[in-house]
Amino acid sequence: MPTSMITVQRHILEQERANPHATGELTGLLWDLTIAAKVISHQVNRGGLADIFGGTGEANVTGDLVRRLDRIAQDTIYRAMDHGGHLCAMVSEESPDMIPIPAKFPKGPYVLLYDPLDGSSNIEANVSIGTIFSVHRRISTSGDGTQGDCLQKGSKQIAAGYFLYGSSTMIVYTTGQGVYGFTLEPSIGEFFLSHERILTPPKGKYYSINEGNVGAWDEPTRRYIEYLKQKDAASDRPYSLRYIGSLVADFHRTLLYGGVFLYPADCSNPQKPKPKLRLLYEVAPMAFIMNQAGGAATTGTQNVLDVQPSSLHDRVPIVMGSKQDVAVYEKFCVDSKRAPANFASDAH
Ligand code: AHG
Ligand code: MN
Ligand code: MN
Repeated sequence: MPTSMITVQRHILEQERANPHATGELTGLLWDLTIAAKVISHQVNRGGLADIFGGTGEANVTGDLVRRLDRIAQDTIYRAMDHGGHLCAMVSEESPDMIPIPAKFPKGPYVLLYDPLDGSSNIEANVSIGTIFSVHRRISTSGDGTQGDCLQKGSKQIAAGYFLYGSSTMIVYTTGQGVYGFTLEPSIGEFFLSHERILTPPKGKYYSINEGNVGAWDEPTRRYIEYLKQKDAASDRPYSLRYIGSLVADFHRTLLYGGVFLYPADCSNPQKPKPKLRLLYEVAPMAFIMNQAGGAATTGTQNVLDVQPSSLHDRVPIVMGSKQDVAVYEKFCVDSKRAPANFASDAH
């Protein structure tokens, strides 16, 4: 049985109460999301016994093949979130355009941006996968949400978090008052506080990057990874490599153990660098969490939370993790005089 009696709902409610202008709307929104995640978690845990494996035969807006579980997660979250009156629009990795709230339901003050199923390529191998979410307050005043409501800088996020479907199912979230983790007690169907106020170590000893892409990295990234592999006892080098290929899982380990996660742009054509991870529903929420845990997140030339999105599916390079490790990476960028590139508008 859980040792803590602090459920995620109670925690969100208490955090919201600390804000004198709170309406309870955010608590309702996040509560609805936990219901969707429990449904997804149940499907994921049944694995090969449920009809969730295989592709749909389609590709999404960024060209990734859509798997059946991507579609199930997308529909589950949409159906859990469309009617609550908390949202005025949604944006998902799996939909090319904004997803409107049906006319028959009331509209609310927030927009929800999400990656319904992160790490799809790992599904059949029983490797950890997740769901990522980001919440902004609308800036339009009424009716359906607008693009402007969705295209806000990461620094404007009201809440962000992820569900990790791993050896246990967890939610890790922030509303800008620190980062907290809750573990699903499956027999009760409730998330209980298991990770009080998560703080990322100031320096780690792991690096996490798809090293198969080395030929497409830019010079600072190449030099930085070489540096991490050199022996130097005084700075705990060489670092060890850990790479799962599910952002949620690689991020979660980096958050807890420290170190650095990198997904740099593919610079095979230096005139047109191509980042992979998506700003609005992968990079910005993770950057918000990492900052709240005392870590840092950069594109190499800019704090991720200051990047102004120009379209829903913008992609950016990302380096995040322990503050000291990210600072060293930034130094490599400055030393090689890496020119700031407008990755966001150059992404497609
Ligand atoms: P998604 O499954 O939502 O499309 O995201 C996949 C992402 C992310 O989970 C991970 O960090 C990255 O792709 C792995 O990419 P590589 O296979 O190129 O390393
Ligand atoms: Mn993803
Ligand atoms: Mn996905």
